[in-house]
Amino acid sequence: MKLAVVGTGYVGLVTGTCFAETGNQVTCVDIDVRKVEKLNNGIVPIYEPGLETLFHRNVEEGRLTFTTDLEEGIKGAEVIFLALPTPPGEDGSADLKYILKVASDLGPILSQYAVIVDKSTVPVGTAEKVHAHIADNAKVDFDVVSNPEFLREGVAVEDFMKPDRVVIGTKSDRAKAVMNKLYAPLVRQGNPVIFMDERSAEMTKYAANAFLATKITFMNEIANLCERAGANVDDIRRGIGTDSRIGKRFLFAGIGYGGSCFPKDVQALARTAQDFDYDFKVLKSVMEVNYEQKTKLMPLILNHFGGDLKGKTIAIWGLAFKPYTDDIREAPALDNIKELLAAGAKVTVYDPEAMENVRNVIGNSVTYAHTQYAALDDADALVIITEWPLFRTPDFDKMNLLLKNKVIFDGRNVYELDQMREVNYTYYSVGREAVLAPVEQKV
Ligand code: UDX
Repeated sequence: MKLAVVGTGYVGLVTGTCFAETGNQVTCVDIDVRKVEKLNNGIVPIYEPGLETLFHRNVEEGRLTFTTDLEEGIKGAEVIFLALPTPPGEDGSADLKYILKVASDLGPILSQYAVIVDKSTVPVGTAEKVHAHIADNAKVDFDVVSNPEFLREGVAVEDFMKPDRVVIGTKSDRAKAVMNKLYAPLVRQGNPVIFMDERSAEMTKYAANAFLATKITFMNEIANLCERAGANVDDIRRGIGTDSRIGKRFLFAGIGYGGSCFPKDVQALARTAQDFDYDFKVLKSVMEVNYEQKTKLMPLILNHFGGDLKGKTIAIWGLAFKPYTDDIREAPALDNIKELLAAGAKVTVYDPEAMENVRNVIGNSVTYAHTQYAALDDADALVIITEWPLFRTPDFDKMNLLLKNKVIFDGRNVYELDQMREVNYTYYSVGREAVLAPVEQKV
C-alpha cells in the first residue's frame, strides 16, 4: 500500500519505518526542513533501539522517503497518518493546533479517497474535529480514523511489530477494510485488532496510560506506607503480582514516573473529565503523589548530612526518565538536580545516553562524568535515579576507592538489602527499611 505519515517525531518515524518494513511504500512529511534534510542523509534523529537498522534497510530499498511538501507526500496515499505533537496547553488540555492545521491543509489537496488516521494521543472528539476541518475544503470522499499508539520508548519497534492489540476507532466499513489490510502482517502474531467508535478509541489511549500511571502510583504509596510500617514493598509486589487479576508488570515502586506520555496524558484526561463536569478524583491524587514522589529522597539526603549539603558533592547515576532512552522529559533527575543544587551541593552526573540532553537544558551547573565510576570521584554519596542495567552489578571495590562515604540513595531499588549489608554500605531505597552500615565513614 502507499502511505503517508505527517510528522516525523518519535511516533511518526517509528510508524513510517515499521510500515515500510512490512512492505508498504511510505512517505514521511515534516515541515522542519533541517530534520528532513538529516533524514534524507540517513541520520536518525532519535535514539530508539532497533530503529536504525530498519530505517537504513527501507531507505536503501526505496520504501521509505522524506519530504517537506505535504501535497507531494500524500500523492496516491491510501492512508495518511497524522503523528503530530499535542503539547499540553496552559489549562492541561492537549493543544490541537498542529493537527487541525494539517487537517485544513489536507482538504483541498486530497485527490482520491483516503483514510486519515489520528495516531497522536488526542482528546475525545478530535476525530470529529479533524473530519470537519478536512471536509471544509475537500472535493473527494475520506474517512477519519482514530488509531492510538501504545509504544514504549526503548522498545517501540518491538511494540509496533508485535502489538498486544491494535485499537481502531471508526464506524466506516470502507476504512475498516483498509486498516485491516494494513495491519494484517502484524496481527498474524495472533494479537487482536479491536474495532470501536472514534470516541472510544481516543479514550482507550488515555485510559491505558492513566491506568498504568495509577498502578505505579498505587505501588509508590504502598512503598511510602511500607517505610512507615516496617514492611518491604518488593515482597508486596511479588505477593500481589502473582495474582493474575493484578499482573506482574508496572508494579515497581520508585521515585515517580516521567516521560513524554504518562504525565501529559494523566493531566489531559483529568482536564477532559473537567470539561464533561466529572470530578475524576483518582487522577488528581495520582498527579499529586507523583509530584511529591520525584523528590522523596531529598529529606533523607539532607537528614543524612545533618540538614546541609554545602561543601558536599553528590553523584547521580541515571538521568533519562527510564533506561534505554535519552529522553529526559519530566525526568525525576531534573527535579533532584535542582533541589540538590538549591541545598548547596555540587552535583556530578553520569548517564549512558541522556547527558547531552541534560546539558542542553541545565548547562554546566553540574559536572558531567565520562563513566559511572568517574562520577563517584570524591563524591560524598551516590544517588541512583534511573535503573540502567550498567548500575546493577557495579564493582564495589572500585566504588570504595572513589566515594568519600559508603552511602547510596537508591530511587529505583536496584540492589538487594542483604547485598548492601555485605558490602557494608549505608543504603536508603524506596519502600524498604534503610540499611545503616555500622562503620560508614572511610578511614
Ligand atoms: C508509555 C506507555 O507505556 C506507552 O504505551 C505509551 O504509548 C507511551 O507512554 P513510555 O513513556 O515510553 O511509554 O514509558 P514506560 O515504560 O511506560 O514507563 C513510564 C514511566 O513509568 C517511567 O518513568 C518508568 O520509570 C515508570 N515506571 C514504569 C515505574 O515507575 N514503575 C513501573 O513499574 C513501570
